Amino acid sequence: MDGNGRWAQRRGLKRTDGHAAGEEALFDTVEGALELGLAWMTVYAFSTENWRRPLDEVRYLMNFNERLLLGRRDDLHAKGVRVRFIGRRGGRVPARVRRHIEDTEAMTAKNRRLTLTFAFNYGGRAELVDGMQRLAADARDHRIDPKKVDEKMIRRYLYAPDMPDPDLLVRTSGEFRISNYLLWEIAYSELYFTETLWPDFRREHLFDAVREFQARERRFGAI
Ligand code: IPE
Ligand code: MG
Repeated sequence: MDGNGRWAQRRGLKRTDGHAAGEEALFDTVEGALELGLAWMTVYAFSTENWRRPLDEVRYLMNFNERLLLGRRDDLHAKGVRVRFIGRRGGRVPARVRRHIEDTEAMTAKNRRLTLTFAFNYGGRAELVDGMQRLAADARDHRIDPKKVDEKMIRRYLYAPDMPDPDLLVRTSGEFRISNYLLWEIAYSELYFTETLWPDFRREHLFDAVREFQARERRFGAI
């Protein structure tokens, strides 16, 4: 969900006002996902690299994400949305935020209409590092045989092993990068880039992306 800072700067506002404006973008897009009948949607809310931002902004984002979660979870739950988080739960994530994450996951765990996953304190390489550490420990303890390590087994060590690989990846704000997002999972995803800044993004923009996706031919290495 990129472009909040630039959206705000263009209006002479503070960067954090751009983050605040991103809330409506997110929940309109979630409504769009429900309308489309998408079963899975994952959004990049905070990366392991975002800690490098000024302390004020980091603090704002932590409080903002927490407020957003508490303010919206009942509505999401009522709509049949399962809310989940991928990323590192420890480190600098405040214990209170972690508790709200766990409560929200437990509260919505049985919902199946849409799984809305927040990548929060998430990095694609961090995910692989965390997984490989557990895999190596399991090999050391003879719980797995190194010769049996294959793609299917590596998947079991990702943050959300049951999450299907994304069909479509949308990047906003005119940046042509992956920025450490779902590195393993997007091997065959269709990439869609738009100039739209995240706070301006609405369900119609999601529909545009899905329409373009539908026109693509996916071969997965075959012909
Ligand atoms: C994305 O918007 C929000 C987060 C990373 C939390 P940015 O803050 O990266 O906005 P730009 O890229 O500076 O415009
Ligand atoms: Mg950015």
